[in-house]
Amino acid sequence: MTRPIKISPSILSADFARLGEEIRAIDAAGCDWIHVDVMDGHFVPNITIGPAVVKALRPHSAKPFDVHLMISPVDGYLEAFADAGADIITVHPEAGPHIHRTIQAIKALGKKAGVVLNPGTPAKMLDYLIDEVDLILVMSVNPGFGGQSFISSQLRKIEAIRMMIDKTGREIHLEVDGGITLETAPLAIAAGADVLVAGTATFRGGPDQYAANICALRGE
Ligand code: DX5
Ligand code: ZN
Repeated sequence: MTRPIKISPSILSADFARLGEEIRAIDAAGCDWIHVDVMDGHFVPNITIGPAVVKALRPHSAKPFDVHLMISPVDGYLEAFADAGADIITVHPEAGPHIHRTIQAIKALGKKAGVVLNPGTPAKMLDYLIDEVDLILVMSVNPGFGGQSFISSQLRKIEAIRMMIDKTGREIHLEVDGGITLETAPLAIAAGADVLVAGTATFRGGPDQYAANICALRGE
């Protein structure tokens, strides 16, 4: 079955001194979503950006902001990211005491809700969440840094989750994040993913290459 593939460039690999310009460039280059990695130096061993930066970037693109929260505790920040202009908010079950409640809170803010599974977190975690979410994000690296290598055991998890999604009969995006390259993108797609996050692979070569990089990742 062929499904349309969306590319969500991770701005973690963009030039942080020119973030607005970089977002306009990937938008013009044909990306589908914009992936914003939020890290707190506590849940993951790196610190990136907060809601003020998301708000400042919002006017630079009309495309959906796909905001991946790697912060703990997460619940107290949902509203700030929603107000800043996030369209999709994804959260890790390990980042708060009650993941089901966190998903409900994101939806109550009028945003699409996603759940993220780390490489060591089993697909089974989704059993009682899948009916609530708009998106499932499979981490194919341990969260914290761009430029890591794809963990191939996650392909089996993507396949299992694709079956779970199809069984629901609902439209739920299956996104993969980490180590996506021209070699691993087709594997993730074949396993059932329909959204690929790509930091290094999008921003490689500078703005003149962004359109070609995005097309190549989509398999075009
Ligand atoms: C890792 C982040 C990813 C990362 C992807 O914690 O969630 O979004 O930036 O970077 P690449 O595509 O370079 O592996
Ligand atoms: Zn991410």
